[in-house]
Amino acid sequence: MSNFAIGDQDFLLDDQPFRILSGAIHYFRVHPDLWADRIHKARLMGLNTIETYVPWNEHSPVPGAFVADGGLDLGRFLDLVADAGMRAIVRPGPYICAEWDNGGLPAWLFTDPTVGVRSSEPGYLAAVTSYMESVLALVVPRQITRGGPVIMFQIENEYGAYGKDKEYLQHLVDLSKRSGVDVPLFTCDQPFGTMIEDGSLPELHKTGTFGSRSLERLDFLRERQPTGPLMCAEFWNGWFDNWGTHHHTTDAAASAAELDALLTAGASVNIYMFHGGTNFGFSNGANDKGIYEPTITSYDYDAPLSEDGHPTAKYFAFRDVIAKHFPVPAEVPAPRAPVPASVAAVSSTAPVLTAVSTSLVRGTVPPVEVTGHYRGFYLYEASLPGGGVLSFTEVRDRAQFFLDGVPVGVLSRELGERSIVIPAGGRPQILLEDQGRVNYGQRIGEAKGLMGPALLNGVEVVDWEVGAVDLGSLEAFRASAVALPRGAASAGVAGPSVSFATFDAAGPGDRFLRLEGWTKGVVFVNGFNLGRYWSRGPQRTLYVPGPLIREGANELAILELHGSATREVGFAVGPDLGPDEK
Ligand code: GLA
Repeated sequence: MSNFAIGDQDFLLDDQPFRILSGAIHYFRVHPDLWADRIHKARLMGLNTIETYVPWNEHSPVPGAFVADGGLDLGRFLDLVADAGMRAIVRPGPYICAEWDNGGLPAWLFTDPTVGVRSSEPGYLAAVTSYMESVLALVVPRQITRGGPVIMFQIENEYGAYGKDKEYLQHLVDLSKRSGVDVPLFTCDQPFGTMIEDGSLPELHKTGTFGSRSLERLDFLRERQPTGPLMCAEFWNGWFDNWGTHHHTTDAAASAAELDALLTAGASVNIYMFHGGTNFGFSNGANDKGIYEPTITSYDYDAPLSEDGHPTAKYFAFRDVIAKHFPVPAEVPAPRAPVPASVAAVSSTAPVLTAVSTSLVRGTVPPVEVTGHYRGFYLYEASLPGGGVLSFTEVRDRAQFFLDGVPVGVLSRELGERSIVIPAGGRPQILLEDQGRVNYGQRIGEAKGLMGPALLNGVEVVDWEVGAVDLGSLEAFRASAVALPRGAASAGVAGPSVSFATFDAAGPGDRFLRLEGWTKGVVFVNGFNLGRYWSRGPQRTLYVPGPLIREGANELAILELHGSATREVGFAVGPDLGPDEK
């Protein structure tokens, strides 16, 4: 058995100075069949540690559940890290930020308005305790002190940017220790103002999160923590994208110089991200600093290892820097080989609006959480006594209005819209998209849907029918799909609908789905939700992990919300994440 400790100046592995060269890989953003490959490539870059968050809302999609198999098998992920001869850092939250839906907090928890958020409120603490006990059951036996890879365990995440409830932090510490954590506990915070003090406790090791001006940031950290190893717990070498912005990239040489400065200063580092992966399904978060900005599907992050697991110029630049300071394996991963381009065409389609079952909720228009579903699309219906101006206090996040199935307009939270003119007559239906829960700041934990009261010409509209669009299985859509009328590819398809295509493959292999001519929606390959697409960009292709493809016939299902100018979708030779700033 080994031990890991905080020394006066260094981390100590079995009493010897140990420099943490870590890279972030979120197992929940990578297909599980590809975990070993990504970990191996981290080792080849010269890293000795893998860091991951744990997303509570993914493991607990509904109250009382804790799912930890398949793509959520945290134990297996940590075992693969150990198999690669590497160490692991676990950051279980309960809040993780990470551009992840609700910062990882389960939406069901806050349907009870008395439950606090990231505080010592008892209802919140009770839920946190139950979640943490499940995570700790997987992590504790995998600590280095018990022959496993785990060397450090994080308490909360950048808590100083949110609050300073020390009782809450103490609860997390006590719970971790009581459950058997005996590796060092640490906190990470931005090196500004009082965040480092507010987000930590005297007994916890403090680290910083930053991506530039490293030496200045390390000095700031040192002033607040006179002894102990310096560590940048999130070295931001890239950044995420929101819909409607350019694709963020950072210069490989400039990032490498920053990494060099950190290593020369003797600091330990966790590269955020080493490999970003994908916000599959409806897992993306959003930012809201006065303007709501949902995060795109790709979490490539301009990281050293691309979204599809190939080394970039940054990978080689980082490897060279690490090699200046530490031994690096001689083996180098192969760059991406182009995949052959091909085209598939949808041949049948099923309507969405008639496929949703709703239930009556008396009174004020309810948030979507009343359906017991916490992500994706919902349908609202109400009887309106006539036409006029229909308004809400807020639309979270995007509402498409229909009258007897005919589109009459869209209200978008991103644009601050909350009122629409509805013509008289006909049955109104509203298809509502939760575009991703805010993951940073004071809006985490908020409800989704049409925020009431709903007013028609100033008079409240009550008694709404509401239901979730069930995309867990596409069986109902498959069963109701009808062949598209004959027509050229340019005849397109009308939404909201789910359209189906089949394509043949020689076997598993990565692909990049290009939805040129399609407007907005989500795509499924063999039933797996690849995530959202939007003509708005910047992202132009969706990553299809190779293991999802099988030999022979494969199914593509496209939920298009508006309409497409084509019935075809292309598989591109490589990823296209859109224009960058240059
Ligand atoms: C902070 C958070 C991370 C992530 C980054 C930005 O550092 O701790 O979870 O959100 O910002 O990518």
